[in-house]
Amino acid sequence: MTYAPLAAAYDAVAARYAECIPGRYHETPLHHAMIPAFAAMVLAGGGGPVADAGCGPGHVTAHLSALGVDAFGVDVSPEMVARARADHPGLRFEVGLMGALDVPAAALAGVVANHSIIHTPPELLPETFAEFGRVLASGGLLLLGFPGYEGPEGLAEPFDHMAYPAHRYALDGVAGLLLEAGFAEVARLVVAPGEDARRGFPTAYLLARRTTG
Ligand SMILES: C[S@@+](CC[C@H](N)C(=O)[O-])C[C@H]1O[C@@H](n2cnc3c(N)ncnc32)[C@H](O)[C@@H]1O
Repeated sequence: MTYAPLAAAYDAVAARYAECIPGRYHETPLHHAMIPAFAAMVLAGGGGPVADAGCGPGHVTAHLSALGVDAFGVDVSPEMVARARADHPGLRFEVGLMGALDVPAAALAGVVANHSIIHTPPELLPETFAEFGRVLASGGLLLLGFPGYEGPEGLAEPFDHMAYPAHRYALDGVAGLLLEAGFAEVARLVVAPGEDARRGFPTAYLLARRTTG
Protein backbone atom coordinates (compact mmCIF):
# COMPACT_ATOMS: atom_id res chain seq x y z
CA MET A 1 0.00 0.00 0.00
CA THR A 2 1.26 3.48 -0.80
CA TYR A 3 0.58 5.98 1.95
CA ALA A 4 1.12 9.24 0.07
CA PRO A 5 -2.56 9.67 -0.89
CA LEU A 6 -3.64 9.01 2.71
CA ALA A 7 -1.14 11.56 4.01
CA ALA A 8 -2.23 14.10 1.38
CA ALA A 9 -5.89 13.56 2.23
CA TYR A 10 -5.30 14.24 5.92
CA ASP A 11 -2.96 17.15 5.16
CA ALA A 12 -5.86 18.73 3.31
CA VAL A 13 -8.32 18.41 6.21
CA ALA A 14 -5.89 18.83 9.13
CA ALA A 15 -6.94 22.38 10.02
CA ARG A 16 -10.66 21.58 9.91
CA TYR A 17 -10.15 18.32 11.80
CA ALA A 18 -8.17 20.07 14.52
CA GLU A 19 -10.95 22.65 14.94
CA CYS A 20 -13.75 20.08 15.36
CA ILE A 21 -12.63 16.69 16.58
CA PRO A 22 -10.69 17.38 19.80
CA GLY A 23 -13.66 19.31 21.21
CA ARG A 24 -16.05 16.52 20.25
CA TYR A 25 -13.73 13.96 21.87
CA HIS A 26 -13.70 15.84 25.17
CA GLU A 27 -17.45 16.61 25.11
CA THR A 28 -18.50 12.98 24.53
CA PRO A 29 -17.72 11.01 27.70
CA LEU A 30 -18.19 7.54 26.23
CA HIS A 31 -15.73 8.30 23.44
CA HIS A 32 -12.86 8.78 25.85
CA ALA A 33 -14.12 6.54 28.66
CA MET A 34 -11.46 3.86 28.18
CA ILE A 35 -8.55 6.30 28.20
CA PRO A 36 -8.39 6.90 31.99
CA ALA A 37 -8.62 3.15 32.66
CA PHE A 38 -5.90 2.48 30.05
CA ALA A 39 -3.68 5.18 31.61
CA ALA A 40 -4.23 3.88 35.14
CA MET A 41 -3.38 0.33 34.07
CA VAL A 42 -0.21 1.46 32.25
CA LEU A 43 0.91 3.38 35.34
CA ALA A 44 0.00 0.52 37.68
CA GLY A 45 2.17 -1.74 35.53
CA GLY A 46 5.18 0.51 36.11
CA GLY A 47 4.61 3.00 33.28
CA GLY A 48 6.75 3.46 30.22
CA PRO A 49 6.32 5.07 26.81
CA VAL A 50 2.99 4.90 25.04
CA ALA A 51 2.48 5.52 21.31
CA ASP A 52 -0.65 7.24 20.06
CA ALA A 53 -0.65 5.66 16.61
CA GLY A 54 -2.45 7.78 14.02
CA CYS A 55 -2.58 10.63 16.53
CA GLY A 56 -4.12 13.28 14.27
CA PRO A 57 -3.94 16.67 16.01
CA GLY A 58 -2.73 15.07 19.24
CA HIS A 59 -5.67 15.47 21.62
CA VAL A 60 -5.59 11.83 22.76
CA THR A 61 -1.81 12.03 23.26
CA ALA A 62 -2.39 15.15 25.36
CA HIS A 63 -5.15 13.46 27.36
CA LEU A 64 -2.85 10.52 28.13
CA SER A 65 -0.08 12.92 29.10
CA ALA A 66 -2.42 14.84 31.43
CA LEU A 67 -3.16 11.52 33.12
CA GLY A 68 0.53 11.01 33.82
CA VAL A 69 1.42 8.76 30.89
CA ASP A 70 4.65 9.23 28.92
CA ALA A 71 2.79 9.51 25.60
CA PHE A 72 3.98 10.48 22.14
CA GLY A 73 2.14 10.67 18.83
CA VAL A 74 2.84 9.28 15.36
CA ASP A 75 0.91 10.13 12.22
CA VAL A 76 1.41 9.67 8.49
CA SER A 77 0.19 13.22 7.79
CA PRO A 78 2.84 15.95 8.19
CA GLU A 79 0.12 18.59 8.54
CA MET A 80 -1.54 16.65 11.35
CA VAL A 81 1.82 16.36 13.10
CA ALA A 82 2.41 20.10 12.64
CA ARG A 83 -1.00 20.82 14.20
CA ALA A 84 -0.30 18.44 17.07
CA ARG A 85 3.07 20.10 17.75
CA ALA A 86 1.51 23.57 17.61
CA ASP A 87 -1.42 22.67 19.87
CA HIS A 88 0.64 20.61 22.36
CA PRO A 89 4.13 22.12 22.37
CA GLY A 90 5.39 20.10 25.34
CA LEU A 91 4.74 16.74 23.69
CA ARG A 92 6.55 14.69 21.05
CA PHE A 93 4.95 14.02 17.68
CA GLU A 94 6.60 12.35 14.70
CA VAL A 95 5.62 11.66 11.10
CA GLY A 96 5.51 7.91 10.60
CA LEU A 97 3.49 4.80 9.86
CA MET A 98 1.66 2.83 12.50
CA GLY A 99 2.59 -0.35 10.66
CA ALA A 100 6.31 0.47 10.83
CA LEU A 101 6.93 2.35 14.06
CA ASP A 102 10.39 3.79 14.61
CA VAL A 103 10.62 2.07 17.99
CA PRO A 104 12.77 -0.86 19.18
CA ALA A 105 11.11 -4.18 19.94
CA ALA A 106 9.34 -4.44 23.31
CA ALA A 107 10.05 -0.76 24.08
CA LEU A 108 6.50 0.41 24.79
CA ALA A 109 4.12 0.01 27.71
CA GLY A 110 1.14 0.82 25.55
CA VAL A 111 -0.24 1.65 22.13
CA VAL A 112 -3.46 3.58 21.47
CA ALA A 113 -4.94 3.63 17.97
CA ASN A 114 -8.05 5.77 18.25
CA HIS A 115 -10.05 5.67 15.03
CA SER A 116 -6.85 5.30 13.04
CA ILE A 117 -7.05 1.67 11.86
CA ILE A 118 -10.08 2.67 9.77
CA HIS A 119 -7.85 3.45 6.79
CA THR A 120 -6.01 0.14 7.03
CA PRO A 121 -7.58 -2.32 4.59
CA PRO A 122 -8.75 -5.53 6.29
CA GLU A 123 -6.04 -7.65 4.67
CA LEU A 124 -3.36 -5.42 6.24
CA LEU A 125 -4.74 -5.51 9.79
CA PRO A 126 -2.72 -8.63 10.75
CA GLU A 127 0.59 -6.96 9.92
CA THR A 128 -0.44 -3.78 11.74
CA PHE A 129 -1.32 -5.81 14.84
CA ALA A 130 1.96 -7.71 14.48
CA GLU A 131 3.77 -4.36 14.55
CA PHE A 132 1.88 -3.31 17.69
CA GLY A 133 2.89 -6.64 19.19
CA ARG A 134 6.54 -6.11 18.19
CA VAL A 135 6.83 -2.72 19.90
CA LEU A 136 4.92 -3.66 23.06
CA ALA A 137 6.66 -5.19 26.04
CA SER A 138 5.11 -8.39 27.35
CA GLY A 139 2.07 -7.32 29.37
CA GLY A 140 1.83 -4.06 27.43
CA LEU A 141 -1.61 -2.70 26.61
CA LEU A 142 -3.27 -1.92 23.29
CA LEU A 143 -6.40 0.22 23.05
CA LEU A 144 -8.23 0.36 19.72
CA GLY A 145 -11.19 2.59 18.90
CA PHE A 146 -13.07 2.08 15.63
CA PRO A 147 -16.55 2.19 14.11
CA GLY A 148 -18.14 -1.20 14.48
CA TYR A 149 -19.70 -3.42 11.85
CA GLU A 150 -22.53 -5.70 12.89
CA GLY A 151 -23.27 -7.28 9.53
CA PRO A 152 -24.13 -10.93 9.18
CA GLU A 153 -20.75 -11.98 7.86
CA GLY A 154 -17.26 -10.74 7.11
CA LEU A 155 -14.71 -8.71 9.01
CA ALA A 156 -15.26 -5.29 7.52
CA GLU A 157 -17.40 -2.99 5.47
CA PRO A 158 -16.22 0.10 3.58
CA PHE A 159 -17.82 3.40 4.44
CA ASP A 160 -17.77 6.91 3.10
CA HIS A 161 -15.31 8.97 5.15
CA MET A 162 -14.68 12.73 4.93
CA ALA A 163 -10.96 12.32 4.27
CA TYR A 164 -10.16 8.95 2.75
CA PRO A 165 -11.75 5.54 2.02
CA ALA A 166 -12.31 3.74 5.29
CA HIS A 167 -13.58 0.51 6.81
CA ARG A 168 -15.62 -0.25 9.88
CA TYR A 169 -14.83 -3.50 11.58
CA ALA A 170 -16.59 -6.38 13.30
CA LEU A 171 -15.54 -6.31 16.94
CA ASP A 172 -15.32 -10.10 17.28
CA GLY A 173 -13.30 -10.27 14.07
CA VAL A 174 -10.80 -7.70 15.34
CA ALA A 175 -10.61 -9.49 18.70
CA GLY A 176 -9.87 -12.73 16.82
CA LEU A 177 -7.05 -11.13 14.84
CA LEU A 178 -5.57 -9.74 18.05
CA LEU A 179 -5.65 -13.20 19.61
CA GLU A 180 -3.72 -14.55 16.61
CA ALA A 181 -1.20 -11.71 17.00
CA GLY A 182 -0.45 -12.63 20.62
CA PHE A 183 -2.92 -10.46 22.51
CA ALA A 184 -5.52 -11.36 25.12
CA GLU A 185 -8.70 -9.34 25.28
CA VAL A 186 -9.09 -7.39 28.52
CA ALA A 187 -12.23 -5.30 27.99
CA ARG A 188 -14.58 -3.95 25.37
CA LEU A 189 -16.97 -1.02 25.25
CA VAL A 190 -19.57 -0.64 22.51
CA VAL A 191 -21.41 2.65 22.12
CA ALA A 192 -24.84 1.93 20.66
CA PRO A 193 -25.52 2.82 17.00
CA GLY A 194 -28.27 5.21 18.06
CA GLU A 195 -25.68 7.45 19.72
CA ASP A 196 -24.12 8.11 16.31
CA ALA A 197 -26.64 10.55 14.88
CA ARG A 198 -24.80 10.97 11.57
CA ARG A 199 -24.05 7.42 10.45
CA GLY A 200 -25.80 5.14 12.91
CA PHE A 201 -22.68 3.00 13.42
CA PRO A 202 -21.80 1.40 16.74
CA THR A 203 -18.44 2.56 18.07
CA ALA A 204 -16.14 -0.06 19.55
CA TYR A 205 -13.30 0.32 22.04
CA LEU A 206 -11.21 -2.78 22.59
CA LEU A 207 -8.50 -3.13 25.25
CA ALA A 208 -6.04 -6.00 24.89
CA ARG A 209 -2.84 -7.13 26.60
CA ARG A 210 0.33 -8.38 24.90
CA THR A 211 0.74 -11.91 26.17
CA THR A 212 3.61 -13.31 24.15
CA GLY A 213 6.78 -11.89 22.75
C1 LIG B 1 -9.84 9.56 11.84
S1 LIG B 1 -8.26 10.23 12.21
C2 LIG B 1 -8.10 9.88 13.97
C3 LIG B 1 -7.15 10.86 14.65
C4 LIG B 1 -7.07 10.72 16.17
N1 LIG B 1 -6.51 9.44 16.56
C5 LIG B 1 -8.43 10.90 16.80
O1 LIG B 1 -8.77 10.11 17.68
O2 LIG B 1 -9.15 11.85 16.43
C6 LIG B 1 -7.15 9.03 11.53
C7 LIG B 1 -5.69 9.47 11.67
O3 LIG B 1 -4.87 8.32 11.51
C8 LIG B 1 -3.82 8.64 10.65
N2 LIG B 1 -3.44 7.38 10.00
C9 LIG B 1 -4.25 6.52 9.33
N3 LIG B 1 -3.58 5.44 8.92
C10 LIG B 1 -2.29 5.62 9.35
C11 LIG B 1 -1.11 4.83 9.25
N4 LIG B 1 -1.11 3.65 8.60
N5 LIG B 1 0.01 5.29 9.84
C12 LIG B 1 0.02 6.48 10.49
N6 LIG B 1 -1.06 7.27 10.60
C13 LIG B 1 -2.21 6.84 10.04
C14 LIG B 1 -4.39 9.67 9.69
O4 LIG B 1 -3.39 10.45 9.09
C15 LIG B 1 -5.27 10.48 10.63
O5 LIG B 1 -4.58 11.54 11.24
